[in-house]
Amino acid sequence: MIVELSVLSVGDVFSPMLIKVTVLPGDGIGPEVTKQAVRVLEGLATAFGHELTCTQKDIGGAALKSSKDPLPNDTLQACLSSGAVLLGAVGGPSFDSFPSHLRPESGLLRLRRELGVFANLRPATCYPSLEDCSPLRADIVKGTDILIVRELLGGIYYGEPRLIQGPTGDRSATDTMRYTEKEIERVARVAFELARSRRRNLVSVDKANVLDCSRLWRDVVTRISQDYVDVKTSHMYVDSAAMALVSHPADFDVVLTENMFGDILSDQAASVVGSLGMLGSASVGGPVGLYEPIHGSAPDIAGQNIANPVGAILSVAMLLRHSFKLKREASCVESSVAGVLAAGYRTRDVAKHGHGCLSTEEIGGKIAEAIRVAAACTENVAS
Ligand code: IPM
Ligand code: MN
Repeated sequence: MIVELSVLSVGDVFSPMLIKVTVLPGDGIGPEVTKQAVRVLEGLATAFGHELTCTQKDIGGAALKSSKDPLPNDTLQACLSSGAVLLGAVGGPSFDSFPSHLRPESGLLRLRRELGVFANLRPATCYPSLEDCSPLRADIVKGTDILIVRELLGGIYYGEPRLIQGPTGDRSATDTMRYTEKEIERVARVAFELARSRRRNLVSVDKANVLDCSRLWRDVVTRISQDYVDVKTSHMYVDSAAMALVSHPADFDVVLTENMFGDILSDQAASVVGSLGMLGSASVGGPVGLYEPIHGSAPDIAGQNIANPVGAILSVAMLLRHSFKLKREASCVESSVAGVLAAGYRTRDVAKHGHGCLSTEEIGGKIAEAIRVAAACTENVAS
């Protein structure tokens, strides 16, 4: 297999560093995909001569079982004292009837808040070798390269009050969508800065024809856009954006949106480019970054060694780039993933019709091997 080596330019200064990561495998397919992501990280660290320490802790349902708390203090402290956090997935049907503060998801929401990670970056890129995996026609999806910047600490996910009240049969439920100008401004600035490093085209998605939160959102984004006149800025309603995402996905560059719209549109974008299993994410803005694939715990396929670990592995690339500023190493992971996919190796979710597919462990092994080969071809790495 031939792997693109251009990212490893000979002559780069090599400086070993300590990569200190807290690993939270979580629930469902979380442990399987995280195992492959850690394997890739270990291989990468060895190949490039970095020192790696991984401390594993419980979160979500796994933590509820071991300590009755979806985010035990011990887990939180480990996260706060590491350089980055790598998470698998949380949740599962056995917790569906639990009160909201005792659900696996509440552990993840608390962790995001404690880490202060207000900007969630979700790149959805269509690999040329996967154009035939999209439910859309190849000519529509071709060239799609979107960065969704999802606000992660506000909106309806965190607004108070939130409650269910009244007697059964006559209950009512309340959730609160709330945003402050400062919350909108800080995530907007992250998105505009990132747009400058890309194609300088930013679409802000809201529902300003109905929601006051969205009217404030649009107002603040418009004000911030005046500091970025080199970025072409436009606004779309979320319903219209959902449609455009399937009718002409390749037209999008950066999509800036609030918490819940970003949750929904990122699953949709993932499917557009092939599979929910393919997307990694970076949650940044606080002192410690959080990296996780965008997929959930997929309990229906958990434990079968068939889940796609690429989203978790691409989260490792984002961890290297954003938390450790290891650009070359991040590119090595990304080009190794692209090389393995181009060589035709696929998990079941993206397999070509009538072709065989690899297990979670097998594709993890192929990517780790591609990294080893890529690094070995570069004289100045770990020698
Ligand atoms: C995601 C997930 C989470 C979210 C859940 C598990 C709380 O769907 O990261 O997209 O809604 O943010
Ligand atoms: Mn989601």
